[in-house]
Amino acid sequence: MIQGHGGNKQHLADRMGCRLEDIIDMSSNLNPLGPPERIHTFIRENIHLIHALPEPDAAGMSRGFAAYHGIDPGCVIAGNGTTFFIYTLPLALGSKKALILGPAYADYEDACAALNVKTSHCLALAENNFIPDLDQLSAGAGQADLVFICNPNNPTGTLIDKQDLERLIRCHTNTCFVVDESYLPFVPDAEDFSLIKLAHLPNLVVLSSMSKIFRIAGLRTGFLSGAKALIRKLMAHYQPWSVNALAQAVITDIYNHPEEILPFFRQTREFIVKARRAFVHALAETDGIRLFDTPVYFVLARLDRILASQLCRRVGEDRFLIRDCANFKGLSHRFVRFSLKTNEINLALAQSIKTTLAREQD
Ligand SMILES: Cc1ncc(COP(=O)(O)O)c(C=O)c1O
Repeated sequence: MIQGHGGNKQHLADRMGCRLEDIIDMSSNLNPLGPPERIHTFIRENIHLIHALPEPDAAGMSRGFAAYHGIDPGCVIAGNGTTFFIYTLPLALGSKKALILGPAYADYEDACAALNVKTSHCLALAENNFIPDLDQLSAGAGQADLVFICNPNNPTGTLIDKQDLERLIRCHTNTCFVVDESYLPFVPDAEDFSLIKLAHLPNLVVLSSMSKIFRIAGLRTGFLSGAKALIRKLMAHYQPWSVNALAQAVITDIYNHPEEILPFFRQTREFIVKARRAFVHALAETDGIRLFDTPVYFVLARLDRILASQLCRRVGEDRFLIRDCANFKGLSHRFVRFSLKTNEINLALAQSIKTTLAREQD
């Protein structure tokens, strides 16, 4: 397992000698509004479900997800987080050579390394605002049998048009494309960008994490949508009961109330647009930091004068945990990522950053 995922609150709490609850975690990307109200109530009222085994293949929750997206339930598998699929796909598909569109979530590479699959990267550059070079991506895809694309991308936030991705996928029929849409529900008009409805294509799988948008990362739930032949290959590596009973029931309940989903997404999206605007505005005139544009609620930044580790340490003294992006291939020890929360917290973080950078200039 890589070291350096977000969310290591304990480490900062130990350093500061404070309680875990006193740490403000702006390092892991979770919905700033928290889970939909009904999830807590549902768990409180249905805790007895843990007394019995759930469905071994979590088919019930997959049916709900498939119905919501208007696709064949036979094209969906539920897993204990999309992490399960990231670590199983290269094995199930017998991949030899993977291409990763980066800078991207490090687990794609980590999963390939664990399975002895060679990796190469197609890296988008800071000077191009991290907008990927699609010609370069296409050339690389022709040389690989597996391609990982995160859309919108973590940590850069860049978003690729559906038409561009579809063209790429249809052009390279011998390459399997993994399109990770874990952060797509946060994007305004996300439905126009999603490839889930194309999941019948023989060389595409789409990953949808429930952890981020519904802020239930600890419940461990996610989906893979893909053609039935790909689903069969994955099911050969599926462990029974890998999604626990409570997790299956919570997700089934969410999709049993589809009329509440889009309003929740919309509320989240509207909140994020305003919160991001205020945060960017607060840092607009600050020397020594450049924020990259994003349609999501995490913001990548490059520091001119100090190292990411220094900024993390300094804002850590104000109890803010932010993400040092040094371990993302294609970034460096100058990049940090902030996952926004409420306006009040975001502006307090902006102030802490400003104070740190001003101090460094003196
Ligand atoms: C891009 C991306 N995909 C997948 C995951 C894994 O999420 P989960 O296993 O909770 O679905 C993460 C977690 O941070 C992520 O950032």
